Amino acid sequence: MPADTPLPMLGGLSAADFLDQYWQRKPLLIRGAFPDIESPLSPNELAGLACEEGIEARLVEEHGQDAKGNPRPWKVSHGPFDEATFSRLPESNWSLLVQAVDHYIPEVANLLETFSFVPRWRLDDIMISYAPPGGSVGPHVDQYDVFLLQASGQRHWQLGGPTDDEAPIIEGIDLRILEHFEVAPGKDWVLEPGDMLYLPPGQAHHGISQSDDCMTVSVGFRALSADEAVTSFADYLGETLPSSKRYSDAGMTPPADPGELNDEALERMRRLILETLDDPTQLAQWFGRVMTQPKYVDQLVPQESPTPVEELVAELEAGGYLERTLGSRFAWRALDDNQATLFVDGDGLVCSPGLAQAMASNASIDADILDYPGAAALIAGLLDRGSLSWPGDGAFEEDDE
Ligand code: SIN
Ligand code: CO
Repeated sequence: MPADTPLPMLGGLSAADFLDQYWQRKPLLIRGAFPDIESPLSPNELAGLACEEGIEARLVEEHGQDAKGNPRPWKVSHGPFDEATFSRLPESNWSLLVQAVDHYIPEVANLLETFSFVPRWRLDDIMISYAPPGGSVGPHVDQYDVFLLQASGQRHWQLGGPTDDEAPIIEGIDLRILEHFEVAPGKDWVLEPGDMLYLPPGQAHHGISQSDDCMTVSVGFRALSADEAVTSFADYLGETLPSSKRYSDAGMTPPADPGELNDEALERMRRLILETLDDPTQLAQWFGRVMTQPKYVDQLVPQESPTPVEELVAELEAGGYLERTLGSRFAWRALDDNQATLFVDGDGLVCSPGLAQAMASNASIDADILDYPGAAALIAGLLDRGSLSWPGDGAFEEDDE
């Protein structure tokens, strides 16, 4: 789709205008972004997910109690929960949040595709929350871009003014709730089903449920901090660097003071570090791997026994197709005119640019893909690692026991 097509989900803005004016810069309220929305889950189904082992879920209670029965302004507990937890909860003032629902529910995963006006590898996950009236997670600041889509019921959103990194937060709880929150003039709205609020990183916000069916879908994005990027890239590069590459000071002049760490020494070290890090080929290989790293590494389940390539080809030629496993991440980058790296779930595989591009798109993976040389072996490898699955195998299936 051309970048200047008006998009109803962006309130009629084109992707190009949204990215230019709002993305990472300022909030945008979009009334009726998804006018026909039907919540992909009921509150009970969300609670069901929150009871599953291995699913990241949090319960935030306001005016709760600690283990000794002392009143606490906020209490956070982590899943998996059980029915007893839900049956003891009051009728108001709590929130249940379930992370990465797109890994378990295909309809939720499909929603991600509507956000592909931003590169896919920037997407983190879809979190879904349920809250009865008064439920919220408190006023806070997130470090990530987020689209908050009201899936059912109503939520009252308030935005704060500028908040710096050092803003005081309430001590002693596992949540970064701001001690002071003042609503910015005019930044106060009740969102109805289908309405959506975009928030850039660092924007203080507070969303309070107004109904007993308030479900909010948060489409969150990932961005590495400089701290994570530098550490991770240095680790990646470090694995390939020869130990002979090190600080050297051939041709130095005699030191004025042998105890001093002088400017020339500092400059030699600075150059060693910057020249070593400034390697565009390695940077691309690292970046693709790190941005496709699965959110939960242990959710990638390898096949018990490898699929013979001939069997896979026969299956596809008989009309079968493969799916990208929910939660698997794909991206690609050309190496030259004839070769590309396909990044999948933290790994890099060399193949033709056409095959890499097709695999990193949402195109179906059927017999047509076999037209690309090397496709069958590459696909068989991805099936074995768990990044691809046969229909029905890749979605989370609830345990009936
Ligand atoms: C929520 O859904 O309750 C909170 C989402 C957020 O503020 O990031
Ligand atoms: Co938030």
